[in-house]
Amino acid sequence: MDDLFSANLSDDLNAKALIDALTAELVEANKAYHELDNPIIPDDEFDRKLAQLRRLEVLYPQFKKVISPTDTVGGQPSKGFQKVKHAEAMLSLDNAFESEDILDFEERIRRVLNLNKSVQLKYVAEPKIDGLAISLTYKKGILVQAATRGGGVEGEDVTENVYKIDSIPKNLVDFPIDFIEVRGEVFMNRNDFDELNYELQKLIDFAIKKEINPIKLYINPRNAAAGTLRQKTVETEKKTKARKKKNEKTKASYWVKKQWANKQLETLKGRLSFFCHGWGAVSNPFAESQWVALNLLNKFGIPVVKERQLCQSVDDIFDYYEKIIKQRPYFSYEIDGIAVKLDDLNLHSRLGSSSTSPRWAIAYKLPPEKVWTVLKDIDIQVGRTGTLSPVGKLKPVYVGGVYVSNVTLHNEDYITGISSDSQSIRKGKDIRVGDTVEIYRSGDVIPKVSDVDLSKRPEDSVPFKFPSTCPVCGNKAIRLEGDSVTRCVGEFDCRAQVLGRIQYFVSSEGLNFDGLGANLIEQFYDRRFPTSNRRWIENPGDIFKLKSELEKAGIDLIQEKGWEEKSVQGLFAEIEKKREVQLDRLLTALGIRYLGVQTAQRLAQHFQSWNNFANTFLSDTQEETTIVNDLCSIDGFGEVMVTSIIQTFNNPTFKKWLDNLIPELLVQDVEGVQKTDSVLSGLGIVFSGKLEQMTRSEAKIKAEALGARIYNSVSKNVDLVVAGPGSRKKTKDAEALKIKIISEDIWLKMIS
Ligand code: IVH
Repeated sequence: MDDLFSANLSDDLNAKALIDALTAELVEANKAYHELDNPIIPDDEFDRKLAQLRRLEVLYPQFKKVISPTDTVGGQPSKGFQKVKHAEAMLSLDNAFESEDILDFEERIRRVLNLNKSVQLKYVAEPKIDGLAISLTYKKGILVQAATRGGGVEGEDVTENVYKIDSIPKNLVDFPIDFIEVRGEVFMNRNDFDELNYELQKLIDFAIKKEINPIKLYINPRNAAAGTLRQKTVETEKKTKARKKKNEKTKASYWVKKQWANKQLETLKGRLSFFCHGWGAVSNPFAESQWVALNLLNKFGIPVVKERQLCQSVDDIFDYYEKIIKQRPYFSYEIDGIAVKLDDLNLHSRLGSSSTSPRWAIAYKLPPEKVWTVLKDIDIQVGRTGTLSPVGKLKPVYVGGVYVSNVTLHNEDYITGISSDSQSIRKGKDIRVGDTVEIYRSGDVIPKVSDVDLSKRPEDSVPFKFPSTCPVCGNKAIRLEGDSVTRCVGEFDCRAQVLGRIQYFVSSEGLNFDGLGANLIEQFYDRRFPTSNRRWIENPGDIFKLKSELEKAGIDLIQEKGWEEKSVQGLFAEIEKKREVQLDRLLTALGIRYLGVQTAQRLAQHFQSWNNFANTFLSDTQEETTIVNDLCSIDGFGEVMVTSIIQTFNNPTFKKWLDNLIPELLVQDVEGVQKTDSVLSGLGIVFSGKLEQMTRSEAKIKAEALGARIYNSVSKNVDLVVAGPGSRKKTKDAEALKIKIISEDIWLKMIS
């Protein structure tokens, strides 16, 4: 992203780049959080970025994506559960971070409803629980369905699992409502979480002793709740029982799996809690205010959060917020804010909702938890692109629900006290080994430093000297002018970069190997064949040769520590499966700097086949300037990226890697994956001038979805120019090259 901003772009382009980057990042983060239960950015950072994207989309609607994270709630349902449509969509809450945001919230309500200050507005305030949203459908008081939120419109049917949760009522006696979708949060109390992980740890210790692949601890109560609710316990149990027990190790492995399945069942039953905080569709109105409605639901046996409060004014909300901040450490469950809802239900229906959130409610986020601890050391980690990333090693400290011992220190400037936009951070205080530092952790990712206590700084401390050589390979580490990062120049000489590249190749961004992760790659990289002294895996191509090379060397993986027959078979079956690969996926997996998923797709569309691609980049038939000019005409491609691609493919070691890899693969041509029924399939298109019926970015997304390639400028690669008012140069160029020019109306007919 930094590269986008350092470039000298006009305001519009900057806004577009920012919208593109934020959209991509948030889509990814949403998926990681909601579908994979594996968050990649802290919640507060996500919320801020979403707010930033929303603002930008209002200012630059022409750059808003057809599918934007600001229009969607949560992730899509994960595979494995039936999908169910909610009778009323499950929305999310808008966020407030400061008291002004709450004042604005009330102000907006008054404005929309035309209510002056003399009209009193009351609110229900509750802790915002860090759990998993759920919708429970009761018909005549009987629980008939339970569904997760999913994408908001459709969720996953988790009825079977929810039926096992003790804290959720299945039958409400004398319930006066015929049909209701009770909405609430499933979560795990902190002590239940600690207990569960303690028990899992014992199972893990046993697994390690028996040299079988251990299961993992949950990282926090939210993940534990989500993991438990969305597991397939019963099936696991049946399968485990059905298997024949073979040798000692396999027996132990089945035993661990069975224990694990039983533990999950036990957890589902007794360690998940539930609070109701509202409702969706309902057959008959049953109260006039939120407060009375919650009390009524509670009276019939539905758990409602005890710490709720009826606030008579905005000032009461502020008092409640302060009270909750003080009480937060003593709550039995984790919270990340307070939820504030207008009390009068008549006003709810008058205010309605946006596509993502009701206008009558807001989440007022709590500041992240902060604690002080000592920075014992600063480690430098080297990434796949050679970036030197400093990581602070802390005296372990409990914050935000976990023990923390690492903290990100970003880069040299950050340690010195300068932010990426050259502003002073921590009032300019630098960070030194031995310092007492304040750290904060929000969400589930690596924590950050917010302050340094200079009064506790050891007298003999010295400013941290950022290394000028790579700590892994000893090559020079260079920071270019205007760049915030320091990079090792070692490239293929540097163990960290080589390993990082192979790890990226197998990762979910790359070919997405199931069961072949970063740890295993590192193990295989470190092992050597006895006769040749060659590493088991030195580059991506070796992955596909592993089975035959091991056989040749007489090594049986099943006999090795941590391996069982089933896992070995699974690994080699997965490797076989990955031989067939789409061109864009392969290009992404090669880990070329600046080439992301979307740009790799465009590059693949442009070349259509590996052969065409190789003819350009791996043979000497074309001049570099011709390649640069050709590729820069592709939408989203600039000189920096194109040069990076050319340099990578000119690198002799990289060429050797490809020589080893490509013969192992079946790279699919792009035609094979295109929509054949589309009139745009395979066409090169340029949009020029102003489009009036849809934004240019919408048009591009639509065209790409229909199999077209988008170019910035008119060239021989282009088949069609869609020209709106103001198109001059491109129309002229198209006329000169006898390329078809069409109006927006015709374009709309083509895609309809
Ligand atoms: S009210 C229209 N109240 O937070 C949604 N939500 O960020 C109304 N949450 O999806 C939700 N505690 O799953 C509400 N006391 C509370 C809550 C709460 C947790 C969750 C809920 C919602 C998400 C919004």
